[in-house]
Parts: sequence; C-alpha cells; structure tokens
Amino acid sequence: MTFLDLPQMISASGSVCLPGSKSISNRALLLAALADGITEIENLLASDDTARMREALRTLGVKADDLGAGKWRIHGCAGRIPARRAELFLGNAGTAFRSLTAVLALADGDYTLTGVSRMQERPIGDLVDALRQLGAQIGYPGNAGYPPLRIRKRKAGEEGQGGKVVRVRGDVSSQFLTGLLLALPLTGKKTTVEVTGALISRPYVEITLELMARFGVLVERQGEQSFTLPAAARYVAPGAFHVESDASSASYFLALGAIGATDEGVRVEGVGRKSIQGDVRFAEALAGMGAKIEMGEHWMRASAPADGLRGITLDCNHIPDAAMTLAVAALFAKGKTRIENIASWRVKETDRIAAMAKELGKLGARVEEGENYLCVTPPDAEHPARAAMIDTYDDHRMAMCFSLASFAAPLRIHNPECVAKTFPEYFRHFVRVAHPAPVIAIDGPTASGKGTVSARVAAALGFHYLDSGALYRLVALAARDAGVDWQDEAGLSALAAALDAAFLAGRVLLNGREVSDALRSEAISSAASRVAAFPAVRAALLFRQRAFHRAPGLVGDGRDMASVVFPAAPLKIFLTASAHVRAERRCRQLLENGQDADRAAILADLKARDDRDRNRPVAPLRQEADARLLDTDALDIESAVAQALAWWRETKSVKK
Ligand code: DC
Repeated sequence: MTFLDLPQMISASGSVCLPGSKSISNRALLLAALADGITEIENLLASDDTARMREALRTLGVKADDLGAGKWRIHGCAGRIPARRAELFLGNAGTAFRSLTAVLALADGDYTLTGVSRMQERPIGDLVDALRQLGAQIGYPGNAGYPPLRIRKRKAGEEGQGGKVVRVRGDVSSQFLTGLLLALPLTGKKTTVEVTGALISRPYVEITLELMARFGVLVERQGEQSFTLPAAARYVAPGAFHVESDASSASYFLALGAIGATDEGVRVEGVGRKSIQGDVRFAEALAGMGAKIEMGEHWMRASAPADGLRGITLDCNHIPDAAMTLAVAALFAKGKTRIENIASWRVKETDRIAAMAKELGKLGARVEEGENYLCVTPPDAEHPARAAMIDTYDDHRMAMCFSLASFAAPLRIHNPECVAKTFPEYFRHFVRVAHPAPVIAIDGPTASGKGTVSARVAAALGFHYLDSGALYRLVALAARDAGVDWQDEAGLSALAAALDAAFLAGRVLLNGREVSDALRSEAISSAASRVAAFPAVRAALLFRQRAFHRAPGLVGDGRDMASVVFPAAPLKIFLTASAHVRAERRCRQLLENGQDADRAAILADLKARDDRDRNRPVAPLRQEADARLLDTDALDIESAVAQALAWWRETKSVKK
C-alpha cells in the first residue's frame, strides 16, 4: 500500500493558485459538446473525474483539441451525439455518470455506462425513473437502481417525447436534477421538472442553471421545486469559457490558514466573492468558528484568530463537500462541532459519515455519528491527539481533509494518490504552505556519544528526543521473550509492527515492564544490529519513528535518520569518532560501573557492528552529502553539544 507520512505541522502561510472547479469543468465540457459551435474552455481541471468525462465525450465522437495549459477547444455537436453506439467507463465520477446518463437516455442510440465497484453502490434509480417518464429505455444489467446501465434507442413513436411534467427526487443527490436539466434541451420540447422531496445541495443546481444560461438556455423557475425548459431550447457555444477555481479545493487551504497560527494566513487565488460555486460559503462557516476571513472578487484569505477556533453547530446541506473540511477543522476548536443535514455523505465516494467518524477517532477525537449528522469533540490537553495511520477509502476528500489533521499529530495517509480524482497536485501545494515542526537528524556509529549529545541538544532546545536504536533493541528483546528467532524476518517484523513500547523520561517500557537495562546488554546490542539489517523490520518501525516528529521539534539519533527517516531534516549531523577512541570510551564506562572490560574484545565487537551497520544493503550507516561532520575524537560532550547547537542557530537564521 502506498502512503504519505506527514510530521506534525506547526504553522501555515503563503498563497495557492487553485486548479479549476470540478463541477464547472465537467458541466462545461458536456455543454460545450452539446452546443452548436466551438467553445474554448480555459482553466479546465485536469483530474481523474474530468478525464473520465473527456474520454467519454471522445468515445461519443465529440472532437476536443488540447491547446495546452488547461485550455481545450471543444467542437460542439449541436445536440446530436455523433456515436450511436458506445460503451463508457466513468470510474467513480458522479457528475459525469449522472449527467451522461440523462443526455444519452434522451439521445438516439444504444449505450452502456459502467464505473468502478463503488459507483455500482451509488444509487441512480431516481434519475432513471425520471428519464423513463420521457420514454427513455434504460435497463439495469446488474442491480436494479444502480449502475451499470444499458440505454436503448427509444422506440419509434416515442421519438422526441417531452412537453410534459417530469418528477424527480431531489433528496438523495442533486445530480439527478442537474443531469435531467442539462439533458432536456435534447428533446426540443417544453418540459417542466418537478422536484419531489426537499432538494439537497441546492447550490450545485444553481451552478447547473448558471452554466446552462451561459450556453444560451434559460430555465424558468416556479418556486423552489419546479423548473421549466422552454420549447426549442438549444445550446449555443459561448466562444470562450473560463472555469473559475474550485471552491471545495479552496476549503483545505482556508482551513489551513485558520488553524495555521500565523497572522499572514493562507490566501487562495482564482475563486472569491464573484464565484458561482456554493462551496465559497465554507468561508462563512469558518468565520463562524472564529477564523479571520478576507475576500476579493477572485481570491480569499483565512488566518487564525488570536484566541483560537471555537466549535459550532451548522446545517451543512448547502456545502456538503466543504463540510468535510469543517469536521477536521473541529480538531482544533474549543468545544464540540456539530455538522448537520449531511445524509448525502453516505452515498458519496464512500460512506463519508462512517469514514470520517472512524478516522477522527484514531486521532483521539470523540465522535458521535447519526444517520445525517456528525458531532466531533476534539482531543484535549489531558488526552492529546495521537499519531495515527489514516485510511482514505479511495476518497479524495478524505485524503485532503486529513492532511489538516497533521497539525494535531504526525500522520500516515494511506493511498494519498486518490486526490487525483479532483486535485492531483494537492500535496505539492500542501507541503509548500504547511510548515513542519523542526527536526535535527543525528547519525553515527555505535559508542560515538551521539546518544548523549542528541539527548542534551534536545533538552537544550526543549525538543522531543528519539533514540531509534532503542527500537531495534526492543525488537531484539521482544523476539527473545517471545521465542522468535533473530533470523526470522517475518516473525521479527510482525513483532516490530505490534511493539507495545513506551518511552518515559529516560525509561523504556516493553509490554508495561521496565527494560532500560536489559536493552543495553551486550547480547541485545549485538542482536539489535542483526535484526536491524532486515528490510521488513525497518519498514515496520518507520512510522513509529516518524510519530516522534511533533511540535515543538525533535532530535532523532540513529543510523538512517538523515537518509531515510527524516530526509527533509533542515539540520543533519554525522557524529563519529575513530574505533579506538570509541572502544576506549566504552571500556572507561564499564570500569566506572564496576564491570570488567576486555579492550581487545570490545574493539573487535565494535568493529563487527560498524561493519554490519555500514555494509548492509538497506539503510546503511553513512554520512549523507548534506550532513555536517562532527568528529568527536578530540571533543568532549559539552563541546560537541555546543557545536550542534551552533549549527542549529545557523540553520534557523538561514531559513529565515
Ligand atoms: O544506536 P544503538 O547502538 O542503540 O543501535 C542499536 C542497533 O540498531 C545498531 O547496531 C544498529 C541499529 N540501528 C539502525 O540500524 N538504525 C538506526 N536508526 C538506529 C539503530
């Protein structure tokens, strides 16, 4: 499984140029395809969902030229789909699936529409029922009410039906109404759509109506629930069409600004007060939590309030997608946040209410989940947020939302590439504006004094300290206790993954028992360097080490801190001493503790461990090109600590 590890973030600042809106991109593509004439669409979103729509239109015979830099020229087919027969695969793109279903059902051909397995669990029966009222012939090759769909040419005599009243349910997905409205001009007849049940996610319908108007079709509205398409309505290419930036994508960066503890905050470009997307109102919700919001015609900025965010109760029916971002922002608010009227979350890319509740729970939030609401109580000082491995359920919004949770604790985000559905470049932007807690990586051979130096540097800076060697020692010890052979890579890595270890003020506990001394025995020292050579053991311990990377900062000591565990560390130190000096120090230590010391044996053992650590194929001990060399042959501990601290001050001043 792929993953992305995020350290705890401590601040956010900067500005982000957001990609085009998904909702607008897919509607504009379809309208341009159906229109009479040529449309040049600018700032079209490049993502999985829009790629599915583009591929589908190409399969249907619509010509599209890629002009580069997000610009496309679409040759409209003036209401007649060129391909009379086609099979379309639409992935998990709800906007593409629902709107193409409606368009093809009212076109004149035989079509099959399929998607990924989750798409086959997302209901579409209400749209099919509405289209059948217009004479469409739609069958379910799989489960009734769900994709895939088979559309047959309408029977003679039913050609061009319309001119009547069609009813469609509006309380499951607004995309049913959107699909129907977009497709109705194909009938050429005056048709009225009446929505039954309370219409949810209304702002998405407003986008549909606005875009239809830009393509020349004005829908008449009677009250809240009734829409009439005039007779002989037809789409006309507007020539040029600019896609504004995605307001749902903006929500992550606005939330970053609100939790990111800087006055500068985070600014998003391309979407603002002039937006036609309902999700711009996320900014109001965030302001309700106390965030400072500024807005221009095409930009927004959020920054953190001096006294922190506070929990709110909000009906989020109007911002169903961006409301997910609120659920994660709730981790940083005082008190509970209650997000209501979000039943549609259950039929999205995943059951988002269940997924959100489960993953927030992993961080230590208390979450109450109802059929159509979620109530989040954040972790507190007594029960701080825990480092966690977050599952994303192949849901782009889960991955993007949970990146924000890295301000609470270090995280591993599984399958981060699922963001490609709507925002392939998301994490590249995220790491530019979110700033991690600092980390100093100190590597070096055994008995070089790096443990003592690292712990003192950490104490001087008030940082956390990671003794990564102790983890390999713990695995060796746990294996001995459990009767697992030190050669058994699979057995060792299983132990490493489930290690019940705690580090408390210089004491180490294994399964609740203090093992600080046992870890330092010669047998365990030697076994640790053997178990550490197994890639599966190292992989199993990777996130456990990164989980130490918390605010206000970390000093990590080991063999591969700079190369593998914290490759982005702003300061890397390779702390070493000659084998003779190290052997001498070890002898002195043993003698001071009243133990015997065989100088020759100690030197030989030390060289053997060096050899194993340096020459193993995975994560060998070596000085990274960007690491500073701290040779302690002629330095005492105090001088080594002073040097490391001097380098840290220098690093910080250069970064500023
Ligand atoms: O630092 P130490 O002596 O406590 O480490 C014990 C062993 O663990 C050492 O022989 C090599 C291994 N180790 C490692 O492979 N990678 C690390 N980051 C730390 C230790």
